[in-house]
Amino acid sequence: MEALTPIFEGLKKLLSRLHEGARRLLLQGLAVLVETRDPAMLYHVASSIGVYGEYYDEPSPAWPGFFKEYGGSEIELPRPLQASGVDVLKAIASRRSRREYGGPLTLQEISTILYYSVGITGWETGWPLRAYPSAGALQPLEAYVAISQVEGLEPGLYHYNPRRHTLVLLRRGNIMNDLQRACLEQEFVSKAPAAIIYTALYARTASKYGTRGYRYIHLDAGTAIENTYLVAEALGLATVVIGAFYDDMLCKLLDIDCRWELPVAVMPIGKRVG
Ligand SMILES: Cc1cc2nc3c(=O)[nH]c(=O)nc-3n(C[C@H](O)[C@H](O)[C@H](O)COP(=O)(O)O)c2cc1C
Repeated sequence: MEALTPIFEGLKKLLSRLHEGARRLLLQGLAVLVETRDPAMLYHVASSIGVYGEYYDEPSPAWPGFFKEYGGSEIELPRPLQASGVDVLKAIASRRSRREYGGPLTLQEISTILYYSVGITGWETGWPLRAYPSAGALQPLEAYVAISQVEGLEPGLYHYNPRRHTLVLLRRGNIMNDLQRACLEQEFVSKAPAAIIYTALYARTASKYGTRGYRYIHLDAGTAIENTYLVAEALGLATVVIGAFYDDMLCKLLDIDCRWELPVAVMPIGKRVG
């Protein structure tokens, strides 16, 4: 119990610093935590917009910019396909989570999936717009690609640069076994010729929406994930979204700071089998 003393002290200090609306939301959230024993409910209540417009607006980090750019060897992706010949309604109706993968994939398949999932599909007064809708158009998502078997690409971990529609090689070597370990050993992961790992740069969304931004980054991600499913479906490929992973292990694998860049989903991709 003594270990709790500094936490109570810290909480008292925090409450005294917050403006009245935020303090009320946090106190309501704490009461719900005690009642339900579910920390998710504490977050849910604390990140609500109250009927009087009260809002928990911490943290309010600085805007980190639209693009996370890595230096290094850059691979230009081919132009994404302009049409697949599969009607979007058909793709939605036939979409399934598929856990068997053939390979290899082509660079154009990777290019097409990335572009129509999280690529820049327009600009408005100097502001990029993406294939996925985004709260406040703040675009928190980053896409990494683990490659084991893609024609024209050496195995390794890559980062997608949407501004130039390129891949930047971050690390050489096949990491699919490590990725499988990070995904709670789900045994189909290492068989995929490629996997997209979506992360969210929380500060992009929190810079405007404060703590409510945590809800929004996952809504943003859900829309991008569905894009990936539908493009894979239209191209005759297979994918599944994985939400079960060891956060720390995945962050280490990607070499990202897990406090601000949050892993959201892993999507193995391969040729459809059967
Ligand atoms: C948020 C989320 C997390 C998921 N995590 C996993 C996962 O870790 N492993 C897995 O095999 N499938 C995972 N799935 C896929 C679901 O199992 C799948 O969508 C569900 O069984 C319905 O099947 P369908 O997608 O073919 O319609 C996840 C789906 C969602 C939406």
